Parts: sequence; C-alpha cells; structure tokens
Amino acid sequence: FVREDIRNIAIIAHVDHGKTTLVDGMLKQSGVFRANEKVDERVMDSNDIERERGITILSKNTAVYYKETKINIVDTPGHADFGGEVERVLKMVDGVLLLVDAFEGPMPQNRFVLKKALELKLKPIVVINKIDRSDARPNEVIDDVFELFLELGADDEQLDFPIVYCSARDGIAKTELEDESISLEPLFNTIIEHVPAPQGFIDEPLQMLVTTIDSNEYVGRIAIGKIERGRIRKNQQVAVCSTDGNIRNGKIVTLYTFNGLKREEVEEANLGDIVAISGIADINIGETIADVQNPEALPFVEIDEPTISMTFSVNDSPFAGREGDYVTTRHLRDRLLKELDTNVSLRVNETDSTDAFEVSGRGELHLSILIETMRREGYEFQVSRPRVIYKEIDGVLCEPIEYLTIDVPEEFVGVVIEKLGSRKAEMVNMASAINGYSRLEFKIPARGLIGYRSEFLTDTKGNGIMNHIFYGYEPAKGDIPERSRGVLVAFETGEAVTYGLYNAQERGTLFIGPGTPVYQGMIVGVCSRAEDIDVNVCKKKHVTNMRAAGSDEALRLTPPVELSLEQCLEFIAGDELVEVTPKNVRMRKRILD
Ligand code: GTP
Repeated sequence: FVREDIRNIAIIAHVDHGKTTLVDGMLKQSGVFRANEKVDERVMDSNDIERERGITILSKNTAVYYKETKINIVDTPGHADFGGEVERVLKMVDGVLLLVDAFEGPMPQNRFVLKKALELKLKPIVVINKIDRSDARPNEVIDDVFELFLELGADDEQLDFPIVYCSARDGIAKTELEDESISLEPLFNTIIEHVPAPQGFIDEPLQMLVTTIDSNEYVGRIAIGKIERGRIRKNQQVAVCSTDGNIRNGKIVTLYTFNGLKREEVEEANLGDIVAISGIADINIGETIADVQNPEALPFVEIDEPTISMTFSVNDSPFAGREGDYVTTRHLRDRLLKELDTNVSLRVNETDSTDAFEVSGRGELHLSILIETMRREGYEFQVSRPRVIYKEIDGVLCEPIEYLTIDVPEEFVGVVIEKLGSRKAEMVNMASAINGYSRLEFKIPARGLIGYRSEFLTDTKGNGIMNHIFYGYEPAKGDIPERSRGVLVAFETGEAVTYGLYNAQERGTLFIGPGTPVYQGMIVGVCSRAEDIDVNVCKKKHVTNMRAAGSDEALRLTPPVELSLEQCLEFIAGDELVEVTPKNVRMRKRILD
C-alpha cells in the first residue's frame, strides 16, 4: 500500500542558512496560517540554547499541505549526536532537504547528519538558499555539495540529486537558475516528485516505533513516531513491546497528527503517518506500539552508553546565592527524573548522600547542555568535575574510547594534533575536506576529552568543529588519573582568610559552580593529585555565570597566581575540612577519602 497523500522529509541545515525562514515560508504558502495566527512564531528551534550553540537538540515536527499532499517536516539534530538520536529521527523519513547557503556552501557541521542520511539510503534534495544574495555563487556551491556527497559515500542515485534554488526570504523557489518564480511551488513539486511516498502493509498488524517523547502536564507522556505498518485508532488497546523483550498492554487515549506547527486530534491514522499518542504513561523511546494480538517489536537504534558522569548536588556552599527558584533536593530530583523521559542516553543514580545525584551522559557537552538548561530554568545546584566511567570486563579494568572527528582550517592542524597527542589520542585518518578545512580522525580515551572542547575552541579561534561517537571499551592503559581528591577553597571575607577542602569524590561538591557568586580574593583549586594542584585567584569582585563548574574551563577563567606547591599543600594538610570563620559561613566537616 502506498500513501500517495504523504511525504515525510527531514531538513538538514547549518545555523543561519535559513531553515526557519524556509519552513515559515512553506507554512504560509501552504495556507496553514490563518489571519489571526502569529506568523512570526518560529517554532522549529525555539530552545534558547539550541539557538545560541547552533545545534538543535530536540527534533520537532511540522506539517504543511500542498494541494492533496501532506508533507511532514522533521527537524534534525545538529552536529552533535547524543546517543543515536539522529538515526532515530531519520528513520521516520524517506527523503532529506539539504539546505545550503548560496554563498557559504555546505558546512562541515552537517557532515555527521548527512552521512547518516546517505547511509540510510534517503533521497536527498539540495536546496540552495539565499540566491538573492549579491555574492551568491550557486554553481560552485553545488560542486562542493557533489564533492561532499562523493566523500560521504553517496550512491549513484543520491549523487543525481535534484536541485532547487531558493530565496526563503522572498518566498520563491525554482529548479533552473534562469527561471522566473513567484512562489515556493517548485520546491513543493520537487519534494512530491522525488521523495518516495511511504509504503508498506496497511492491513497487517500495527507497528509504530517511538522516536521521541514529549510530555505535557495534562496528558502526561506523549509518544511520537511513524506508523510503520497497519493502522491505529483512538481508544484502541495496544501492546507495548519494550527493548528488553517484555510486552505490556496499553490504551491510546488521544491520537494526534501534525498540522502546521500544531497537533491535531484525529480518530484514526494509518501507515506512513507521523503521529503523537497519549495514554501510555510509561512509554519510552525505542519501544514499539503494536497490535494486541500480534505484538511484534521493530528493531530500534541502539542507544550509546554513557561514558562520563558528574555529581549534581544541592548548593550548600557558603557562596550559594540562593537566587534560583528551585534549590531543594526534591526540585533537583524531580527535574532530573523528568529529563530522563526525553534524554535517552542520560542516566541518573542516587548516591550515598541524600542531596546528591550521579548524572551520566555521552560526554561533557551532553551534560553541560543539561546544566545550562536547568540553570536557565532557575535551578540552583552544584556539579562536580566530570569523571570517566570505568568498567571491569573479564577482570580487566576498561575505559571508554571515543571516535573523534575534527574539522579545522588547515592552519590549526598542527596545534590540534599536538594537543590531542598529549591527551593520548591516536590519529586514524587525515584528509582535506571542504571549504579549506582539513579533517582529522582519532581514537581517544574519553578521559582525554575532558576539558578539551574549550581548549580546542580557543586554539582554533572558534573555527574548529569537533564531534565524537562512542567507539568501545578497551583495557585502560596505565596512568589513569587518581580519583579527584578534593577541592581546595579559600576566601577572604574581610575579617579573615578562611579556607577549606571538600571531598569531591564523596559528595561531588565543588564550591565554584555556574551561577555561584565568586568573591574577590577567593582562591579556588581542584586537585586530583598533589602535583596537579591548580590554583587561581579571582580578581573580579563578583563573578557569576561561570560555566561547567569544576571543569578546567571554569578554573581557567581567572589568571593563575604564583603559589608554590608547598603553599597549596599547607591548605590541604589536614584530613578534615578546616572549620571556618566568620561564623555566618556554613561549612560541614568532611573527611577526605
Ligand atoms: P537558526 O534559526 O539561527 O538556527 O537559523 P536558520 O537556519 O533557521 O536560519 P534563519 O531562517 O533564522 O535565517 C538566518 C538569517 O538568514 C536570517 O537573518 C534570515 O533573514 C536570513 N535569510 C533566510 N533566508 C534568506 C534568503 O533567502 N535570502 C537572504 N538574503 N537572507 C535570508
């Protein structure tokens, strides 16, 4: 059965190449917007952090109608992959729009997603946007795209991609540069002509793979995915096949399809439809919603294991500003548990301490995005330095290894290789890529990546792009850094210099955290081994918004001062935290491990 009335596509675009403008244009022209709806409501990537970092974290769905056909548009995550999300999203669609700026050309940031799309044999359509620009160079850009496709292993059919020239700003599209155009119609037509309609068995038992989870305080968890087989009805009893082989029963309470930027309740949906379902309270990503009589699970995309963990704890440092809206253990726990609903490669575990949680994820970026999101929502908490998750496999201690891909302008190749060498990376491949960039590929222990991203951005003046995916566990090779011993904190209150040492391992407590006020004269340091003590004095009176607490990044914000190792050791001489003065400063005694 072929759903001729549907096309499912994903958009791959670099930040600022015009994705939002294009989707807005398609929405307007497809007549989805009615007079009283806000046209400038830009929903494709509404998350602030996504906007700032230029990566889309959650994929969102939009649907436009063109004549008789419904086009479901799913947004793809940007360059970072947090545990198979890209692949899961791409599995819902039959074609991709690669949107490229007519001047800038294809960007290395999109390689990762594009490669996945090509591997999945999706049909690409290349949309050259901003052809109205006076510096547009569409033909060269197309050559670059062709080169990129070749390099990423596109097959002959994919290399024969259709091209649409577009000005999203002006709402026009054309298939030949010389054509005249007054609308986006040629783009709609190209999608309908070149992207295969979904097809499969409509009379067979239902199968729908849950790709994304959304949640809503009124209806609870909402499962989003594409119907791979059969049909689904409101109020239907279904089977839910979990990833471990168990099957349980559930009932569809509300069934939605997408229309414009909104969800629309429907009575029934069929093979090929992208739907949202409420009513199954404990539904998870990767599960299959299936027929009660014939429950059959669909293969799901493996979710990469977490390799890095950090302790999140209630902010009980004497510097805590208590300015946040959510400061208690309960707040922290509820928020972290909620995050687990949608952030599939995240793990949250209790710790010995009632007000600290161990949060594990796919790398520092993965966790730091969560930390930033929570801070913006008004959560005040502190986090420990990131730690690598070691594993014992057959009696051997193993550590996680990442496959790191770096794209940098040629002039920075030297510094990158040198820095990574000292972080125990092993170069696997080196090639010249597109736009004057070189590509370097490494195998690197996950511990070698800790703190590297900020160094990398500095070293490459913000022009480098790095991505890593989990490679596997390998026996740990010597020199594993000792567990972080503690945190040295000293500060001047005007009355006296006070200092103390917290046991970072036990509590994961660091005094310096994002948002934690840091006062003049405060000395902070993190020591994993005595030789590593790194001490800085904060020169500014009140520094807020320090990033990624406890990571090298936060510490390097302030110029280092000359403190001898002996002086540092004096601070941490005792086994116990030094009781501090003045008395208004709360500090608990902690024993070092
Ligand atoms: P983010 O939302 O930042 O992720 O980027 P995006 O890819 O969604 O791009 P967006 O639609 O926000 O457009 C980025 C900038 O390019 C905006 O200033 C747009 O006005 C501009 N722009 C988009 N399409 C066109 C176009 O066809 N021509 C010109 N000249 N500018 C355009």
